[in-house]
Amino acid sequence: MNDTIDYARYDRIRPIRWTGEALELLDQRKLPFTTEYVACTGSDEVAAAIHALVVRGAPAIGIAAAWGVVLAARDVDAADGIAAAALLAPAMQRLNAARPTAVNLAWALARMRTALEAAGDDWRERLASEAQAIADEDLAANRRMGELGASLIAPGSGVLTHCNTGSLATAGFGTALGVIRAGVAQGRVGRVYADETRPWNQGSRLTVWELQQDGIDATLIADAAASHLLRNGEVEWVVVGADRICANGDVANKIGTYQLAISARFHGKKFMVVAPSSTVDMATPSGDHIEIEERDPGELLGVGGNRTVAEGVQAWNPVFDVTPAALIDAIVTEQGIVEQPDEAKMRALFGAH
Ligand code: MRU
Repeated sequence: MNDTIDYARYDRIRPIRWTGEALELLDQRKLPFTTEYVACTGSDEVAAAIHALVVRGAPAIGIAAAWGVVLAARDVDAADGIAAAALLAPAMQRLNAARPTAVNLAWALARMRTALEAAGDDWRERLASEAQAIADEDLAANRRMGELGASLIAPGSGVLTHCNTGSLATAGFGTALGVIRAGVAQGRVGRVYADETRPWNQGSRLTVWELQQDGIDATLIADAAASHLLRNGEVEWVVVGADRICANGDVANKIGTYQLAISARFHGKKFMVVAPSSTVDMATPSGDHIEIEERDPGELLGVGGNRTVAEGVQAWNPVFDVTPAALIDAIVTEQGIVEQPDEAKMRALFGAH
């Protein structure tokens, strides 16, 4: 670990708390002005919270779903893990269906099922320890990626990020935001810009607030200002997270990521994707095979709950897009960095995964 990073300063928010009785989720719909945890005591409540974006961000929804399985287990009476797995399958399917694009959700549930099937009459304890391990490993991965990603950034550089990839989206510290935090701590990142990230405003409501907790200055920009910023030379790197990374290096992430990658390449700027290996999906050959979540068009029709668009207007609200591998300079995971990703390099690092 790099002892120049003061994690107590740079990682103070926890979106997911397991009390032993309930799963407490920081309600991200209400940030930054209200800090309120929602207590879930059943797996369907967790699935509903994931769908409603009470908890969001690829790693965080995987962790929440894992604890959702622990909650579902309370309603099940089984002699061993195999029997419990069969009885828990419907609840796990409902958790898996909460959101389609981030593979971390299915990944975490598959891990829980594998742990269950290997367990005997201690299956309840095994489920709880697996959920805790998923969370602990995510935090460790984020710290490692912070060091690896920051090492690519020259001292004093400006960075632009999109959506929210910080403590709020993970077990802690963050993915792209972890690289930015490590980079600030090491003097590599000199200026931080954050996209607003319409329509849900993860950037303006969450990212700049998170950075403010750390005492990191960040400048908010409208999504539409990104190319203007990249052109005028204040930024060397665009640093983003991911919801699914395919076998050929294509990356699904928050809507608007693709146009940032195009603009970065056009303006000669570097583009970095930061994600734990739980986001890598070697079973999906390319971005063409990813289901892109489409949400209620109503999210586009107003601001802060106030309608701003004339009645009767139609809207389309895809909430992720796919950035082709050819536009990516580096994919940073806790297992290592893939530069100029392609299928051969992905297979060399992740195998069949
Ligand atoms: O719809 P969201 O807010 O869950 O989307 C989040 C993103 O797209 C993040 O960039 C991604 O999940 C990585 S979070 C570490």
